Amino acid sequence: MALQRTLVLIKPDGVRKGLVGEVIGRFERLGLRMVAMQLMAIDQALAARHYGEHKGKDFYRPLIDFITSGDVVAMVLEGEAAISVVRKLMGPTDPAEAPPGTIRGDFAVSIDHNIVHGSDGPDSAKREIGIFFPNLPPE
Ligand code: CDP
Ligand code: MG
Repeated sequence: MALQRTLVLIKPDGVRKGLVGEVIGRFERLGLRMVAMQLMAIDQALAARHYGEHKGKDFYRPLIDFITSGDVVAMVLEGEAAISVVRKLMGPTDPAEAPPGTIRGDFAVSIDHNIVHGSDGPDSAKREIGIFFPNLPPE
């Protein structure tokens, strides 16, 4: 498996709960390399681009309201199979199904406030990294 890059967001609930260091520490301890990181607010336009695939679903409007409700930490992580490694550390989308030891299993209580985002495949990783870090030099 070659090196991959993935986009991770610590969502507003993760920042509000003071979990930035905890979450980044879990990624670092698994050997993922930090390529870019930014504390930032997501505006409506950026939220709509990032979550475009979910437009029209019943949770779309609340999701946009939530992701724009406070600062997030956006980062690009690099490593062997980084996309699936990050998704494994995050746990399933619904915290009720996320086992202890995963970020969502340990810190999240509801599906609409689940602490982290991680790209779900190579195409979305490329797209999302381009949205959040358009000036990042290529691998
Ligand atoms: O974030 P992930 O890729 O695991 O899940 P998704 O299916 O791409 O959904 C994006 C985000 O929408 C989730 O992380 C949840 O915060 C939210 N969502 C929700 O509020 N209710 C659902 N039934 C599904 C997703
Ligand atoms: Mg997703």
